[in-house]
Amino acid sequence: MSRRNPSRRRARVRSPGDAAHVLTTYPLPPAARAALGTMRLATHRGPQPMPAAALARAVGRIDALLCQLTDRVDAALLARAPRLRVVANCAVGYDNVDLAAAAAHGVVVTNTPDVLTETSADLAFALILAAARRVCEGDRLVRAGRWRGWSPDLLLGRDVHGATLGIVGLGRIGAAVARRARGFGMRVLYHQRHPARRPPAGALRVSLTRLLATADVVSLHVPLTAATRHLIGARELAHMRRDAILVNTSRGAVVDEAALARALARGRLAAAGLDVFGREPHVSRALRALPNVVLTPHVASATTATRARMAVVAARNAAAVLARRRPPNPVPLPAPIG
Ligand code: GLV
Repeated sequence: MSRRNPSRRRARVRSPGDAAHVLTTYPLPPAARAALGTMRLATHRGPQPMPAAALARAVGRIDALLCQLTDRVDAALLARAPRLRVVANCAVGYDNVDLAAAAAHGVVVTNTPDVLTETSADLAFALILAAARRVCEGDRLVRAGRWRGWSPDLLLGRDVHGATLGIVGLGRIGAAVARRARGFGMRVLYHQRHPARRPPAGALRVSLTRLLATADVVSLHVPLTAATRHLIGARELAHMRRDAILVNTSRGAVVDEAALARALARGRLAAAGLDVFGREPHVSRALRALPNVVLTPHVASATTATRARMAVVAARNAAAVLARRRPPNPVPLPAPIG
């Protein structure tokens, strides 16, 4: 890994009016394009995601990269990008970016928090409702022409209203899910290392073990880090109630998917709602075979309005760095070694 001095990069910065070279790995809506002003923009228009080899060939010529969570930005890529000053990730999560390598190369990393909070919380709640009330099973039954008429015990599910919701990671999105839960008369428990600064009214901080043992619905909202990889594995699943529901809209690798599939198949858990997977777009046959799992293809922030807002935020972040301003959403980087 090259360890160029970040201050030397700063010396090469173009002035705000200059035509910096920007590469975006996804098509930008007009408002995001406008945020980049006169900068020269190259756009990868498909296939999605941009092939890693094509990205590696392109980074040598660019000052800013607007990328997505499917683009791996690692030490090898950064070593090929001597002019690069900013990686503007169009996502709130940034586990696709090697932060230590970015720090070592003097590259600023930014993300797109806030604008996707409510949209992502909507999808988490949709998965809670769909898994608890067996919405997708009902949909499949009707479509297949197998519905034989109303019956008192057809597709009996679980009540969401009045149930206990356990939120693992009470950040912006976790708190937005908690606010929705209040409208459903749910009791809210949460777990995270430090008490939340402004926890939603009535939310109670508990240990992970207590949360898992108590909650009817467990919803995961932690970033993927070394500490949260497989945070929910066989042992944690065994702590959960047999009639509980697990919802994951954070990152797939936060859950040990093989252990989850086993727990669901053995009736150790009632149901799951999953928007994220460890090796996207691959989803294991074991999970796909389970009727009590609701599966969505990593679409928590996928509304037209929110995706447009995210692209604008990413573009503004990149433009700010190129103009030598502090970007609105910098990701804290570890101190470079040496
Ligand atoms: C989506 O998963 C995001 O991190 O924005």
